[in-house]
Amino acid sequence: MHPELNVDLSRLNTLALPGKAAAYQKITTPAQLSAPELAGQKRFILGGGSNLVLTGDFDGLVLHMAIPGRRLVKEDSEAFYVEAGAGENWHDFVQWTVQQGWPGLENLSLIPGTVGAAPIQNIGAYGLEVGECFHSLTAWDFEKQAFFPVDRSNCRFAYRDSVFKQERWHLSGRMAITSVVFRLPKAWTPNLRYADVNQELAAQEIATPTAQDIAKAIVAVRQRKLPDPAIIPNTGSFFHNPVVAAAQAAALAADFPTLPCYPQADGRVKLAAGWLIEQAGWKGKDLGPVGMYEKQALVLVNRGGATGDDVKRTMAAVQADVQARFGVALTPEPIFL
Ligand code: EPU
Repeated sequence: MHPELNVDLSRLNTLALPGKAAAYQKITTPAQLSAPELAGQKRFILGGGSNLVLTGDFDGLVLHMAIPGRRLVKEDSEAFYVEAGAGENWHDFVQWTVQQGWPGLENLSLIPGTVGAAPIQNIGAYGLEVGECFHSLTAWDFEKQAFFPVDRSNCRFAYRDSVFKQERWHLSGRMAITSVVFRLPKAWTPNLRYADVNQELAAQEIATPTAQDIAKAIVAVRQRKLPDPAIIPNTGSFFHNPVVAAAQAAALAADFPTLPCYPQADGRVKLAAGWLIEQAGWKGKDLGPVGMYEKQALVLVNRGGATGDDVKRTMAAVQADVQARFGVALTPEPIFL
């Protein structure tokens, strides 16, 4: 194996930020990960680059996970178990499962990125998080030089979080997910917890939607609200929706009656970061070449020619204004490299 040297990463991150990798290797089979020359190096494991802020050149080895493959591994009376290689495109995989008659992932249609990256930040949208359909995964451990299985009970899935997101696993480049298995229950019911999806189905006069109808509705809603990274570079939501103490949410709601509040199981309350950012005056506003999108203020966009420093500058300005106006800290969703 001969990693390429000095490789441009600007087309491998959906914010289109400039930066080079000292070394770069595309990984298309799990067995390649055991190559001795990959072991003793600073590494970054790259998927679709859709949750990444490149802050400059990376002085290590980028392993670009492109392992293909998708198959039904098992079927029992209750569920289908479907496996995909880490490099499969997430949206294509979701559409394929729906077409095969294995519904369950349709609410996660059109999320950019790869299958292998999905469990790391527990991607979620329209009332579903991937952790809810996750069964297990296989990963390579560069320290132990061995593959290891992980089942759902060990993942510690939470809102945009999992055990894999911890520094010692993902950011250190210690592990690389090679494949993921999803458990898709046969007792399917449409997940219509989200008002936007209901409205879209109502507009199309669909009263009893199939999984395919829901996938289509979600694609339509996302295309209306969110910029296509191929046209306007972005990483989807740039900040987490902040989760605050109930008392703080109540105090804010008293001052700002239209503030969207979502009570959580633990008694805390999730606030809509997009609303806070819009109210702070940032919807459609730019600082240099980086701004917040005009149709969804939670999406940070590169208007052209931005660097990682430009992203950091806009991020800090938005955080400061939201903090000053609402006393709420916003934390970024993407990983900074
Ligand atoms: N809002 C505004 N102004 C805005 C944007 C939003 O007032 O500019 C308000 C909306 O009116 C709504 C609330 O904020 O009342 C929530 O907005 P939306 O439904 O658009 O969802 P979100 O909370 O901004 C989250 C996820 C998205 C996911 C959608 C749909 C996070 C950080 N983001 O966004 O995930 O697609 O819900 O489920 O949780 C992503 O993580 O990259 C992502 C796109």
